[in-house]
Amino acid sequence: MTQTLTPGKRFITLGQFIIERQSDFPFAKGELSRLLRDIGIAAKVVNREVNKAGLADILGEYGETNVQGEDQKKLDVYANEQFILALGAGGECIAIASEENEDLIEIDSKVSKDARYVVCIDPLDGSSNIDVNVSIGTIFSIYRRSDDKHGPTDVSDFMQKGTEQIAAGYVIYGSSTMLVYTTGNGVNGFTLDPSIGEFCLSHPDMKIPKDGAIYSINEGNYRHFPEGVKDYIKYCQQEDASTKRPYSTRYIGSLVADFHRNMIKGGIYIYPSTGKAKNGKLRLLYECNPLAFIIEQAGGKASDGFNRIVEIQPESLHQRVPLFIGSANMVAKAEEMLALRNK
Ligand code: AHG
Ligand code: MN
Ligand code: MN
Repeated sequence: MTQTLTPGKRFITLGQFIIERQSDFPFAKGELSRLLRDIGIAAKVVNREVNKAGLADILGEYGETNVQGEDQKKLDVYANEQFILALGAGGECIAIASEENEDLIEIDSKVSKDARYVVCIDPLDGSSNIDVNVSIGTIFSIYRRSDDKHGPTDVSDFMQKGTEQIAAGYVIYGSSTMLVYTTGNGVNGFTLDPSIGEFCLSHPDMKIPKDGAIYSINEGNYRHFPEGVKDYIKYCQQEDASTKRPYSTRYIGSLVADFHRNMIKGGIYIYPSTGKAKNGKLRLLYECNPLAFIIEQAGGKASDGFNRIVEIQPESLHQRVPLFIGSANMVAKAEEMLALRNK
């Protein structure tokens, strides 16, 4: 007697998915797949350390300050090392710009001599939340070096607009660990199944609702916000049932976690200029551009209040820009209120 097997729902691992989508990149021939694979491997290693952060002697200040003048935590250093190691060993990446390093990191190895890609990375985002068991993340962005450029890499390889990104993504180390990325053909999210050690496709073709009812901003800085931003906050707080107002405030203080929640539920995240920080706090290359690429691919919007983030010409590795990101109609409304004050 023959037995008929009815296959259950097939789960797709990140590795399988990347290979299946390889044809989206006529020029990449597996290079991009290998880069994403390397990032996925480092993310799993970092996840392991994040999960045991309370147990191992890995919490607390590292005793140094990074290029932004902020205290580095041990996990920032660890995550930075792991991503650099993985990208260095993979053979596709020629240089890395990291939040934790003032200068670009050139990869000078036999395997990387023909490499054509540069990677921008915030290895550990939301580091003030490490000690308190709140979600943190990693953000990355991948660019291809111009075909005319050969020989040693330099900063000019990184001075490409966000519109030139080949891929971008983030990892969220939360109540579960997820890797979300885009290569310009939609956004897909993968949840780490710790029992098999694989990221599995859990959120195919992610889309952000056009409208939302959450606004995320550090209102402690309210006094120093531009008038247009204050107007928008007042708008968020007004009663109007037809537009679900007043909106709820949600602010974790980890950009990745605030962004991820708003992408799923609908909402806006704002880090505007403040009195002390004219260009806000967030960095164009490894925080704003990758998330802008993702949000646009998910049907949302990302702006500095006036211009599309991905159209800003970068001028330095650690450049900061104000960020308004999330549901398309919410970002458009904030831009409208800023424009009114800027007449
Ligand atoms: P990082 O930990 O990589 O330095 O980033 C911290 C960022 C971001 O994650 C977060 O949204 C923002 O800083 C919070 O800043 P405030 O404490 O000024 O609100
Ligand atoms: Mn960050
Ligand atoms: Mn960081």
